[in-house]
Amino acid sequence: MPAIVLIGAQWGDEGKGKATDLLGDRIQWVVRYQGGNNAGHTVVLPDGQSFALHLIPSGILSPGVTNVIGNGVVVDPGVLLEELAGLEERGVDTARLLISSDAHLIMPYHVAIDKVTERYLGKSKIGTTGRGIGPAYQDKVSRVGVRVQDLLDEKILRQKVEAALEFKNQLLVKVYNRKAMDAEQVVDGMLEHASAFAHRIADTRLLLNQALDRGENVLLEGSQGTLLDVDHGTYPFVTSSNPTSGGACAGSGIGPTRITTVIGILKAYTTRVGSGPFPSELHDDMGELLRKTGGEFGVTTGRSRRTGWFDAVIARYAARVNGITDYFLTKLDVLSGHEKVPVCVAYEVDGERVDEMPMTQTDVHHAVPVYEELPGWFEDISHCRTFEELPANARAYVEHLEQISGARMSAIGVGPGREQTIVRHDMTGA
Ligand code: GDP
Ligand code: IMO
Ligand code: MG
Repeated sequence: MPAIVLIGAQWGDEGKGKATDLLGDRIQWVVRYQGGNNAGHTVVLPDGQSFALHLIPSGILSPGVTNVIGNGVVVDPGVLLEELAGLEERGVDTARLLISSDAHLIMPYHVAIDKVTERYLGKSKIGTTGRGIGPAYQDKVSRVGVRVQDLLDEKILRQKVEAALEFKNQLLVKVYNRKAMDAEQVVDGMLEHASAFAHRIADTRLLLNQALDRGENVLLEGSQGTLLDVDHGTYPFVTSSNPTSGGACAGSGIGPTRITTVIGILKAYTTRVGSGPFPSELHDDMGELLRKTGGEFGVTTGRSRRTGWFDAVIARYAARVNGITDYFLTKLDVLSGHEKVPVCVAYEVDGERVDEMPMTQTDVHHAVPVYEELPGWFEDISHCRTFEELPANARAYVEHLEQISGARMSAIGVGPGREQTIVRHDMTGA
């Protein structure tokens, strides 16, 4: 199994952290390739300890795995150090964490601009995590970004920050009525942080390709999800990077011919945080029940997640744009206790049935879900470890989803713990 990509198939929070952790003993490298500390990945270890990871790859909890923050990630140095300190305090060995010299930095002005822009947008806001993600990627694409390697050259760092603030301060003061930022203070703060992690800065694309040449296994861990992808998601209600599998190559420096497997993480129902269309959303007591039973509150911002039934149009779309080879269906246990479980199998747009994701965003906004109702089950399934142990209706639910979602359901999550997983097919080929 050379390189495996693991991605979120919906709007994030599908259980990617748990899935990465589960594969931890069979891989040598885990790489984050996009996003930043907008992510919140929960990992529950066999001893019951729960960890919330934001910027650091979930592989940090697997001894022996080398973790890489790839070139496609945006790094807030203060957050990085805080997260490292939090892990170290709990006894986690963080020695095996490397950071690409080409990753871009989230600067204090990015965080300030993210927050004021959202406030300025009012009702049309995206509902970002306010972590400076969008403004940092804007600077990257505008070619005025500051990279991790700039921390190693104080003169360049000063020049870049001064040049950036010349414009950003005008924006902060004249448009948003905020205080200007002092270039010297920003640079000094960055240099102080840098001294604590300079030894981790590396040419990670070289190291990863060398590892693959030696036959080692690399897992590329996506953050967010397919529908939050800046190209393939529900634009403009998306994040500013490419969580889809294509982004894994650009964000790590690994070529597409190395990737043999794409694992899609898919919740047995649907959730979303922030604004934007969500065809199968439930606004009633059932939505509230899913939120409560599933513990659907954001790991990063603590916001309530919007909830809805499973949407097969989205699953088929995710299978298509990511080239998903295997699905990991999570949180099936949350669906216990219903007489019937509706599944959205298609949409109706302006009176016409559509089976695939509509071409325009207007149609996505107008999409009305077409439901099929499947018989439910009442048993607690959190102790099931084989597919055969599941109640017949839960098995039928999974098999039906498999038929309409575009890829086989190779693993099923029946609880947050590492061991609360049913493996039907080996997803790794290892
Ligand atoms: P990520 O961002 O994709 O890593 O997902 P989050 O960690 O934000 O949200 C997923 C939540 O579901 C976490 O609290 C996990 O511990 C939990 N979880 C993952 N898989 C399962 C499962 O199969 N069943 C249950 N009940 N919880 C799960
Ligand atoms: P994980 O990795 C769910 C959402 C935000 C907002 C939009 C843009 O835990 O699945 P941003 O701060 O990225 O500019 O916000 O994206 N968002 C997420 N939603 N899970 C995440 O990460 C998310 N990261 C960003 O809520 O709607
Ligand atoms: Mg999350």
